[in-house]
Amino acid sequence: ARAHLTLDPAFTIGPVRRRLFGGFVEHLGRHVYDGIYEPGHPSAGPDGFRRDVIELVKELGVTTVRYPGGNFVSGYNWEDGVGPVAGRPRRLDLAWHSTETNEIGLHEFQGWLDQVGSELMLAVNLGTRGPKEAIELLEYANVPSGTARTEQRRANGRAEPFGIRMWCLGNEMDGPWQLGHRNAEDYGKLASMTAKAMRQLDPGLELVVCGSSGRDMPTFGEWERVVLEHTYEDVDYISCHAYYQEREGDLASFLASGVDMDAFIEAVVATADHVRALKRSDKRIDISFDEWNIWYLPNWEEQARTFTIDDWPVAPRLLEDVYSVADAVTLGGLLISLLNHADRVASASLAQLVNVIAPIMTEPGGPAWRQTTFFPFSLTSRTAQGSALKVALDADATTTAKFGDVPVVAAAATFDGSSVSVFLQNRHTTEATSVTIDMSAFGPLSTVSARGIWDEDVYAVNDLRDTERVGLRTNDTATLSDGVLTIGLPPVSWTAVTIA
Ligand code: AHR
Repeated sequence: ARAHLTLDPAFTIGPVRRRLFGGFVEHLGRHVYDGIYEPGHPSAGPDGFRRDVIELVKELGVTTVRYPGGNFVSGYNWEDGVGPVAGRPRRLDLAWHSTETNEIGLHEFQGWLDQVGSELMLAVNLGTRGPKEAIELLEYANVPSGTARTEQRRANGRAEPFGIRMWCLGNEMDGPWQLGHRNAEDYGKLASMTAKAMRQLDPGLELVVCGSSGRDMPTFGEWERVVLEHTYEDVDYISCHAYYQEREGDLASFLASGVDMDAFIEAVVATADHVRALKRSDKRIDISFDEWNIWYLPNWEEQARTFTIDDWPVAPRLLEDVYSVADAVTLGGLLISLLNHADRVASASLAQLVNVIAPIMTEPGGPAWRQTTFFPFSLTSRTAQGSALKVALDADATTTAKFGDVPVVAAAATFDGSSVSVFLQNRHTTEATSVTIDMSAFGPLSTVSARGIWDEDVYAVNDLRDTERVGLRTNDTATLSDGVLTIGLPPVSWTAVTIA
């Protein structure tokens, strides 16, 4: 197969905002407990956080981190997680049928983020709670001093405010599984009320209202319209959530999941702009794609059917998907989709970070390692700098059961003023693709390097038996001549090319 791209530094989509490479930490399974936090582990510091995990999270290049959920947040009392640890209550977590010990709360998590070097994006509970608890949390977190709550924060060890800018108004409120789930009308009113109250306290906040939990939700589209009609002037972003998986051996459709993500983003943008027109507003609502990943959901659904009233474990093994090369190549394609919508996707959170549908895995008392999906994320986060460029793509088609004919190559590009990065996914399941890229508009370029992920065995994984089976490989077929770059892409592959 073949593909030809034309790039020009004059044709940009928009700046690559660093929040595009965000992550997500939920109190779920072994994410927090026995994941990032494992006192007694040989690499744990005095605060109980594993240093080996911190190093991997830094290497992953995660910017903003959404916390503490997810479905968990819709039953969470933030007050349970502050104050002396010994006095914190153990609570049932209905979302994940577990016991929450509350050893880790806002202060500890911010301490972890300070070591990772990432920004906190905090979700408030609009499932079982409302505006009152949201503004109390905001006061506790962001007001400098002078009130009972800020004194409480100071007594709990934090004199300076947390200064949290980005807040989620609940989580997946369109989902029937969500505690406190409600219809768009009711949620829209609640979110508007909460946002207004929060802004009355701190006008500079950036607020995310819940969009749909998936493009296949029956209320998709209408949910966004109704919710935004209630909240348009109160919020900054609307969320999108999307998870993909290979179904019934249909690898070709799975690899093309970026086609679905493109359609999702474009539909939400259209709906937000429709409401903007109705409101005659000058304001533009952008997207916070604050949950996206590969997730083999049926494994969890099967596990959920076994829960009983007398079984509420602490940090059980939940959602511990093991990712293959094909999963990593698909995830690379999703990153390409996000970059190609850099004008409207202001922020995105890979869901999640450690042990739970995660690029990083750990074993209690044992090693921490990179899953296959770690590699496209870390390389993109590091090399996608400056502005996203429009990619003029002329490619052969490959046929998929789900999306029909799609371009055999998905591509995105960025330019930071001196180097160009091009991200390429070959969606063909059996054939290599030869790609040419016309870069003559950039003037003289002389160096090219290309690295990516592919394997003879597209289902190869990294696991406890072999934590380094899969890694980044160098593609040495790339050549530059007269402003044209030529590269061969193996079947089922994802590659990042940097040209300077
Ligand atoms: O990321 C796992 C779960 O997926 C989150 O808790 C929820 O928001 C979504 O359904």
